[in-house]
Amino acid sequence: MKFKKIILMSLVLALLFACSDNKEFNKEDYRAEFDGYAKEFMTELKSVLQKNMKEGGPVKAVTVCSDTAQMLTQNFAEVENIEIKRVSFKNRNPNNIPDEFEGDVLYEFERLAANGNLKKDTTVIKKVREDGIDKIKFMKPIMVEAPCLLCHGQQTEIMPQAAEIIKNNYPYDKATGYKVGDLRGAISITKIM
Ligand code: HEC
Repeated sequence: MKFKKIILMSLVLALLFACSDNKEFNKEDYRAEFDGYAKEFMTELKSVLQKNMKEGGPVKAVTVCSDTAQMLTQNFAEVENIEIKRVSFKNRNPNNIPDEFEGDVLYEFERLAANGNLKKDTTVIKKVREDGIDKIKFMKPIMVEAPCLLCHGQQTEIMPQAAEIIKNNYPYDKATGYKVGDLRGAISITKIM
């Protein structure tokens, strides 16, 4: 009786392994889901930014903005079990320096932008294996809009009080000098499969 059980268990396990081995990764099954996370993250961030700009101007927005981005990252990790963040070659916060994968995709976005082929809804999704772990990685560009210039534009466009706070909080800030329509960076999502 016990023997039969063991054989049955082995069969089930073998079948499970066979199935997972044969299961092809179809990125289109995941693209919409990840794009949903990206949109939710950016919408929440923008609404906090707008609310604080209205209530306390760029000075309040600067201080709140940084905490909000980090807090949202943490919330998504807990609720959706994904890592979501913003990355940029010209980063303000050193936490947002791209890793190798993110850097490659950012170069690709830059190349597309240079040829006029980068769209707001361009997305990249790939399955990668890192340290023996299968992960899905998703990236989407972030473009500069007019309100962003108050904190990311030319020195003359950045609000003086905001500039002061940025200088104090981010001594290695590289995220200025942008124009509307520039590629600012990307949203980056990683999920363990
Ligand atoms: C009120 C000032 C302010 C405004 C307006 C603002 N940002 Fe930022 N931005 C910041 C601060 C502060 C950080 C650093 C956040 C952190 O510590 O994670 C930042 C970081 C970022 C990052 C992450 C990469 C990096 O540089 O560290 C991106 C991408 C970004 N901003 C895009 C935008 C876009 C796009 C807009 C317009 C829709 C915008 N920001 C408007 C203040 C601002």
